[in-house]
Amino acid sequence: MHAPALTTSPGFGLGLRPDHYSEILAAPAGSLEVDWFEILSENYMIPGGKPLAMLDKIRQDFPVVMHGVSMSIGSQDGPSSEYLQQLKKLIDRVQPLWVSDHLCWTGYHGQNMHDLFPLPYTEEAVKHVARNIKRVQDYLERPILLENVSSYVSFTCDSMKEWDFVSAVAQESGSLILLDVNNIYVSSVNHGFDPQQYLQALPTDRVQQIHLAGHSDNGDHIIDTHDHPVTDPVWALYADALRRFGQVATMIERDDNIPPLQELVSELQQARRIAADTLIAEAA
Ligand SMILES: [Fe+2]
Repeated sequence: MHAPALTTSPGFGLGLRPDHYSEILAAPAGSLEVDWFEILSENYMIPGGKPLAMLDKIRQDFPVVMHGVSMSIGSQDGPSSEYLQQLKKLIDRVQPLWVSDHLCWTGYHGQNMHDLFPLPYTEEAVKHVARNIKRVQDYLERPILLENVSSYVSFTCDSMKEWDFVSAVAQESGSLILLDVNNIYVSSVNHGFDPQQYLQALPTDRVQQIHLAGHSDNGDHIIDTHDHPVTDPVWALYADALRRFGQVATMIERDDNIPPLQELVSELQQARRIAADTLIAEAA
C-alpha cells in the first residue's frame, strides 16, 4: 500500500480536549476558527459514555483526524490484534481524514508503559517496523501516518541518523509522516544536531501533517511537555518546514496547563499567518 500524501491540506486544527467540549458545542456554527480536530484515539476506544457522545456531536460540525499513543508499532510483537480491532471500530464510527500514531515502541510482552520510546536506528529496525506497518495498513485498509518522537537518549547500536531512519521507514512501508516540528527542535538541542539537516533529508511527498507544541527548557536539556505556547525557535523551524514541504495540515497540541479554547485558537492564528507569509514569499 503506497498512497501519496494528500495534495490539498484541510487547513489548521487543534487537539480536541475534554476541557473544551462545552465551548466548542456552544460556539455558533462557523464561528470557531478551527478547520478540524485531532482526537486521541485511545480516549474514545470505549464502549460508550460521555466522551463518545461529545465526539459524535462535534464530529457533525468538524472533520476529525485520529491520533494514537499506544499502537507500539516498533515493538517486537507489533500492535496487538485486540488493539487494532478497537481502533478499526473507532475508525468506522468517526470516519477520520486519516489515522496516525508514533514511530516508537511503548511496551513489551503486552505491557503498555505509556511512554513513547525511540527505536534503534538500524537497517534491521527499518525492516522490522516496516513489516509491522504493512500488517496494520493491510488490516485498516489505509496508509497510516507515523510521528517522529522526541528523545533524550540513543542506542549505541545506531547505524543511521534519525532523519534517515524516518525516511527509510516511510519509503519501505508506504506510510506517511506526521512531522512534529517541536520534537525535532527538542531532540536537536538534546542530541546536538542541526534541525535543518533533518528537514532536508525527509522526502517531500510523505509529510501529511505537522504538529506544533510547547516544551520546557531545563537549561542543559529540554523536555517535550506540551504545557506551554509554541516557542520562537519552533515557529522559525515551522516556517522552514513549510518552505520544504509546502502547505501541510498543521495543528497545535496542548496537553497540560490547558488554557481557554480562544487562547489556542489565537495561537493557531499565528500558524496561519506564518504559513501565509512563508508560502506567499516562496511563490513570489
Ligand atoms: Fe506531536
